[in-house]
Amino acid sequence: MSGRSRAGVILAVAAMTIGGVYGARATMPAPKPDALAEPKGTDQAGFPERLYKFVIPPDNPQTAAKVALGKALFFDPRLSVDNTVACANCHDPNKGFTDQLPTAMGVHAKFGQRNAPTILNAMFNIEQFWDGRRPTLEDQARDPILNPIEMGMPDPQTVVRKLDAIGEYRQQFNAVFGSAPNYDNLVKAIAAYERTQLAFDSPFDRFMAGDGNALTAQQQRGWAIFNGQGRCMSCHGWNPTRPLFTDDRFHNIGVSAHNAAFVPHARQALAMLAQAGGPSQIDQMAIASDLSELGRFLVTKQPHDIGAFRTMSLRNLFLTEPYFHDGSQATIWDTLDHYNKGGVQNPYLDGGIVPLGLSSQQEDDLAAFLLSLTSQPYMAEAKAEYARQFKISRTTRPQRDTAAAMGLKGSKGPGFSGPFGDIGPGQSAMRQNPASLGGD
Ligand code: HEC
Ligand code: HEC
Repeated sequence: MSGRSRAGVILAVAAMTIGGVYGARATMPAPKPDALAEPKGTDQAGFPERLYKFVIPPDNPQTAAKVALGKALFFDPRLSVDNTVACANCHDPNKGFTDQLPTAMGVHAKFGQRNAPTILNAMFNIEQFWDGRRPTLEDQARDPILNPIEMGMPDPQTVVRKLDAIGEYRQQFNAVFGSAPNYDNLVKAIAAYERTQLAFDSPFDRFMAGDGNALTAQQQRGWAIFNGQGRCMSCHGWNPTRPLFTDDRFHNIGVSAHNAAFVPHARQALAMLAQAGGPSQIDQMAIASDLSELGRFLVTKQPHDIGAFRTMSLRNLFLTEPYFHDGSQATIWDTLDHYNKGGVQNPYLDGGIVPLGLSSQQEDDLAAFLLSLTSQPYMAEAKAEYARQFKISRTTRPQRDTAAAMGLKGSKGPGFSGPFGDIGPGQSAMRQNPASLGGD
């Protein structure tokens, strides 16, 4: 029995919840490529030329013909089992290469557990996916095509046979790779197209290039808070050689703590991974099971990675709402309220997540700063979304907890309640002993 089908059996036996199945909802038609789908030029303020050279793999050089093939494939719903879902359904160029849904919808109108991140600048990710389970864009592209609730193809051979039967593709693969379609070359072409989706050239990039007027006074205040009281730079730090606003590491910032039964789930995951544990099994657990909330732990099996997810880039955020790995926060103000109160306490919370004591004005300044990370082609739409979210934030702040943000709750404060309160005891004391995770 192959690792893949065995994984399927194990998943079925474990009888886990498949994320919200809305049979009545039809899958949206696949988007057609338009101007925003075109390969982007490198003449952008802030474009990291040396870093870019470094992310083109020697065995998959960029050529115009390969990029054109990759683009055709990226928009082609025939890569899915019922010809309805292309990569572009969930990574729509007109939505900043996301779907702007909390979690993504694949074939048979089934929703997964995770929010679709943008393709923009994804070539710079040290590892792909919210949990870093795939190292390269080539490896990443193998998974959604075969994931049962994303594009649903049964196996690579079926995909290749389908492409081979389409004369145009047979011709294009021959011209680009000198052979009939195969799965390795399919993912190479898609990755080459993705490596053209550069997004710099934001007011922030122009400010850093010396245009002191590129940021408003409020945005400059926000940048100072980002690097100071807000502590954002400790994970989303920016410098000219690392311009993506991420440390490329994994942290539990308390997003999945809302509903996770971490320890029983970790035990269940370890038992399942011990039996198969290939990349496609982890992919299925991440996309379509409650174990998704374990995050990086599914990849490393290290207790300190429980509930940890990749620090995301902060560019073009006003195109990629809603936020976090589960799409649980509707507005940027909600994400800021989450950080301001010190996240949601859980035994695996990163030590860097603490109450920030930010005022409403400071949160507004941070949100204004984040708008300045929008690339030029998306600015008009981002400004409209910023205005929409700003309006909501004047009346609706579900994550706001001013007392916690100001440090007035917790073990020493008057509002202390529950096992962890809002400011728990030392993290190390609360961590599970790794030895206790293995079995009963
Ligand atoms: C049904 C919706 C859906 C489809 C179809 C889909 N994706 Fe995704 N994509 C997602 C979701 C959800 C994630 C995040 C999953 C995770 O991290 O566990 C993701 C992650 C990614 C990432 C990683 C980005 C990052 O920052 O980590 C890339 C790159 C990507 N997809 C490219 C593709 C390509 C190429 C295709 C087509 C072969 C495709 N996707 C098809 C929903 C989809
Ligand atoms: C301890 C590290 C850490 C710190 C400090 C931190 N972040 Fe994050 N950030 C992350 C991680 C990890 C994620 C993804 C978490 C998840 O989805 O579970 C994230 C996600 C985000 C997102 C959502 C991105 C998306 O695409 O959905 C935003 C917005 C964000 N951070 C802004 C900020 C701001 C603003 C600050 C400062 C107030 C900050 N972060 C401080 C690690 C950090």
